[in-house]
Amino acid sequence: MTRRMAQDVEAAKGAAARSAVMGIAENERRIALGTGSTAAEAVRALARRFPQGPGLTLVASSRATEELAASLGLPVRALRENDRFDLMIDGADEVSTALDLTKGGGGALFREKLLAQLSHRLVIIVDEGKLVEHLGTRHPIPIEVVPFARPVVANELATEGWTVRLRGDASGLPFRTDNGNEVLDLMPRQPLSDPRATHEALRSHTGVVETGIFAGMAERVLIGHPDGRVEERRRPDIAHRQD
Ligand code: A5P
Repeated sequence: MTRRMAQDVEAAKGAAARSAVMGIAENERRIALGTGSTAAEAVRALARRFPQGPGLTLVASSRATEELAASLGLPVRALRENDRFDLMIDGADEVSTALDLTKGGGGALFREKLLAQLSHRLVIIVDEGKLVEHLGTRHPIPIEVVPFARPVVANELATEGWTVRLRGDASGLPFRTDNGNEVLDLMPRQPLSDPRATHEALRSHTGVVETGIFAGMAERVLIGHPDGRVEERRRPDIAHRQD
């Protein structure tokens, strides 16, 4: 990617993030924070809109996001037993035409999914490079696995036809999630025709903690463009979670 292209992507992510934060309604003050570079833009925009965050309840989906939010003076705290959120703002690795998502490029897929399930609305912020017809087109499907089971799970999935890669960290060791688990990045033989079924099939392997397939969860996707424009796509049939 050229420097200019990278700047365009950053500008697009920023536009989507600002739009999501500006769209937070008066009665939406319990907010779950996503992970990744686009979600980080949203945290920065949140800190600008709500300096010190009075009245906000904020829980982050990763240590990285928690540290960023705290460093900006936002009142981020740990998850509590009865927590429910009005809104979660998060990025994605791929967004299909049906608004299903692949997430977990940043390794936070488990906490992201839990917080999304506790949220009334999941708003996804992306640049247009994340848009695909079907999941599994450009980005692998990450799954979080228990390290003890990982060799067995990896072998089972390779036998099923997936191209399986153990995610490494900067020093070449297996990447560890905030939960102490490992991540396998799975490339399908062909893009997914039924993401929900694929999620269920992957979850059925003992040792798989969670998959990065978020099927039917996004209420709204905001697609940023380098010139600052933001397009919005909504799922008409989303079942809203209730408090
Ligand atoms: C984090 O685990 C992911 O789900 C991210 O939301 C996803 O990888 C998108 O990240 P970027 O916004 O950095 O592209």
